[in-house]
Parts: sequence; structure tokens; C-alpha cells
Amino acid sequence: MARVELTGTSAFEVEAGFLAIPVFEEDLRGAFRGLLRELDERLGGHLASTVKEERFGGKTGELLQLSTLGRLGSARLALAGLGRRAELPEMARGGHEALRMAAGKVARAAQQAGVTALALALVDGLDGPAAARAAVEGALLGAYRFDRYRSKEAAKPALRTVHLALAAGRATPELEEAVRLGELVAGAVAWARDLVNEAPLDCTPERLARAAQEVARAGRLRCEVRGPKEIAALGMGMFQGVTRGSAEEPRLVKVTWMPKGAGAKAPPLVLVGKAITFDSGGLSLKPTDSMVTMNGDMAGSAAVLAAMRVIAELAPPFPVHALLGACENMPGGRAFKPSDVLTAYDGKTVEITNTDAEGRLVLGDVLAWAVDTLAPGAVVDLATLTGACVVALGNFTAGAFGPDGAAIDAVLAAARAAGEDVWRLPLVPAVKENLKSEVADLKNTGERWGGAIAAAHFLNEFVGETPWAHLDIAGPAHASKERGYIGKGGTGIGVRTLVELVRAWSPPPSPSARTARRGAKAQPKAKGRRSR
Ligand code: BES
Ligand code: MN
Ligand code: ZN
Repeated sequence: MARVELTGTSAFEVEAGFLAIPVFEEDLRGAFRGLLRELDERLGGHLASTVKEERFGGKTGELLQLSTLGRLGSARLALAGLGRRAELPEMARGGHEALRMAAGKVARAAQQAGVTALALALVDGLDGPAAARAAVEGALLGAYRFDRYRSKEAAKPALRTVHLALAAGRATPELEEAVRLGELVAGAVAWARDLVNEAPLDCTPERLARAAQEVARAGRLRCEVRGPKEIAALGMGMFQGVTRGSAEEPRLVKVTWMPKGAGAKAPPLVLVGKAITFDSGGLSLKPTDSMVTMNGDMAGSAAVLAAMRVIAELAPPFPVHALLGACENMPGGRAFKPSDVLTAYDGKTVEITNTDAEGRLVLGDVLAWAVDTLAPGAVVDLATLTGACVVALGNFTAGAFGPDGAAIDAVLAAARAAGEDVWRLPLVPAVKENLKSEVADLKNTGERWGGAIAAAHFLNEFVGETPWAHLDIAGPAHASKERGYIGKGGTGIGVRTLVELVRAWSPPPSPSARTARRGAKAQPKAKGRRSR
């Protein structure tokens, strides 16, 4: 990943292959102002004439490249369209996603042109910390490449430096902090993309557990890894069912951020990630075309672990746990079968009607375990859970489910602040009827229609009264074409939302604090919520 340097040097003097300037439509109409006006003067009118000639309007996604005629530190100039300046307040509320996209697009173009140093200048209105952070994230992620499996070096060198050029004297501590956070977040997103892009032969449950241990070691977090015997001993019958058909051993992983002092007693935030390292569908086998991206069925867990890298640095004043039930879903000779009945961690029995609805089974056990053992203030899960959610919202938007309350509100607000597209979908009560079984407490699939809702209802069965939000990221976890800072392959969706969630979260008062506040009157000790 490239390094970011904050430079007080004027954008015109920085020595780089490209000078990139994201611009608004309004900035190009009539006489230039501010940075563009100075620039045009330096170029003797060449900028104004090229903008006119090429009919560059600054629309979202538009890119204009021109020579700097040897008059600037950079060899070439690139303007990237941001759309309408009138939309700037709305863009700011949406986490400056248009800027992130534009910065990503120029960074990729620069790297493809063989540029190793990119200068990035921010126009008036984009000089605050939040915009700087978005620009940094966009530029770094736009230059992301996955070349682990290439035997030859890439034809073009990797982008090495991004010089963020600020008007002199502008590098406030807030700005430096924002840029540092942008680098940290981009690094975490790239790390999540790497995991998602890895071949399933390499990214096994054991490998995910090792990745978790590495995250923990680097961030001084706790990490616990459990194997098949412990999973069996815990009574996670659904998890065990899914893993049966695979030759790879499952792993149950817990990574914990624990603050020092009083914060350690606050109700923890629990993050759960779907961690199916390959989803063949099991005996309800997927057709070949649907199976090819199923190495990415662990994208939820990649996002959760990547977020823990950042959380270790943010050091929030409450505990955060990341949980993953990692395994493959394979059709081996011992595979679980349609019409099997599995017993969940909390004792519920589940009739299997489709072995390809495996994510909810593993997640159900992990959620029930979290609620039983951690007394969470809230639980948020991220899962590439259903094709139905992709049908509903497309490839760019995650679905959010959960009962009204603090968890869903916080997740939606965090996604918006992070610039990730998340749309709430309803837990339609009637769809839950789908999951009624003739032989067991529940079945794992219902009718085709409303499939994402049914899956969310299934998960909901295992969280009890704990505030909970579920993100179905089946659509946006993987990109089939380049778009702004997003390249083909794993996108790292969810990392930024989780980071913003932790930054904004304040845990509900802990049960003991609540009792204490009720005053001297003794309260009968509440019966434990544990179900076993
Ligand atoms: N991992 C898939 C969901 C998925 C689909 C992720 C497309 C990414 C892209 C999940 O395990 C699955 O197979 N779901 C089934 C559920 C069905 C059997 C009720 C689906 O969506 O078809
Ligand atoms: Mn499946
Ligand atoms: Zn799956």
C-alpha cells in the first residue's frame, strides 16, 4: 500500500507523475476561481482551453487528463469529476463517497500509466478532515491490486506515494489525525480484500484462524481459537452439521479488545462474521457458475477481522469481540443432508431443507453462544447470506435487518458516515411462517420469495432480546467490474461501517450499573438469561 505524505508545498511544485484534482461542475463554469484559476494562469490558459475542447463538465465519474507543459512539478494533470457543488452538504453527510470514488479513479489511472508518486490537491470546500480522509481512502484503495498468484511482476510498478497537497498552513492536528485514520482504514480494507481474493485452497478455516491470531498479536488483542472437539462440546450442532462434509477442520474464533479500567465492565459490542471459506452448496450443490465466487463467502469475517485491526488502534472505552465460525460447506461422504435434523447451541431443533442455506446455521450457533456467554450491549453480524438480497438491492447495496432500536439505528448511521451503501429491509412477520417445520422447531429454508427476510428471521431466533443488527452483504462483497476505488474482486465492504460504528457507539449502561442506580432498595437477583 502506498504511503500518504501531507505536504505544505504548493500542489504545483510537488514532484509527482500526476497532479490529481477532484472538481465540481460549478467550478468549471464561467471564469475559474481559486486553485483552478491559479493553475490555469501557470499553464497559460491551457487548462481552460482543454476543458472547453474536451467538453469536460466535472460530472461524477468523468476524468480529464492533460499535459502540464513542463510548468509544474507534476508531468500530467488529471481532473476528476465530483458532480454538483450544490450537493456538497449532502455529500459530506454521506461520508464524501463521491470524492472517495473520484480519488480512486485517478489513482488507478495514474498507476496504470506507470506513475509511482501522485499529488492530490483538494479544492475549496474539501479541505476539512472528513474530506481529506475520504480522498486518502479512495486514492489508496483505487491503487489496490491483488497479484499474489501472478508468477510475473506486474507490467506497471505499484503506486508508492500519495502527496496530499494542502494550502500552506492548513495541516491542523485534526487533519493529520484524519489522514492517519484514512491510511489505517484503507490498509484494513485492502487486507480484507486480500483475504476474500485468496483461493479457497489457501484461505481455509485454519488460515482464517491464523489471520485472526496475527491481527490479535499486532494489536495486542486477545484471541481464542477452538477446534472441532470444542465446537462439539459446546453443543453447536448446526455448525457441526455444516462442517461434516468437508475435509477441512472448522475453527471457532474469538478476538477481543478489552479496555483497561472501568470500561472493561461495560456491555461489549459483539461483531460476528460469516466465515464459510468455500460454499459449494453441500449436497444441495450449486451450479458451476454460482460456485466460482464462493471463495468469498467469508467476506463478513474478513470485514470483522479487518475492523478489529483498526479498533485496536482506536482503543474504545468498551469491550469489542469479533466472532467467527469458520468452515467449508462441502458435499463429502459424511455431509449433512436435506431432512437431517440438527440441534442448535440453544437447544432448538432445525430441519434441513436445503444444505445451501448453511450460513444461517453456523451464524445461529455463534450468535446464540455470544448472547449466552458475553452479555452483549449489541450484536452486529455481517454475512454474504442470500442471493435474494442481491435480487432485491443489486450488487452495490447491503441489506440491513433488525428490530427497531439502538443497534440498527447505529449501524445505518455508521454506514452513511462511512460512505457505504446500506438499505434497511423489513422483518415482515408473515415471512417467518415460512420457517415452520412439521418435524422440528424450525426449518432452515422456506419458499423462494422474501429469501433475505426469511434468513434474517432465522438468525433472529438465536439472539433473544439482545439489540441486534444483521447486514446481508452478498451483493456488495464482490465486484465484477471496476468502479471508483473498487476494483474487480473482493471489495472489503463493511470494514468502514464497523469502524464508524465503534467510533460513534456508546454502550448501554451495564446491568450492574442499572441496579446500582435504582438506589438502596434491594432488588431480587435477576435470573440469568442463560438458556443452558
Ligand atoms: N453464500 C450464499 C449466498 C450468496 C449468493 C452469496 C450469491 C453471494 C452471492 C448462501 O449460502 C446461499 O447459498 N444462500 C442460498 C439460500 C437458499 C438456499 C435459501 C441462496 O441465496 O440461494
Ligand atoms: Mn450456501
Ligand atoms: Zn454461503
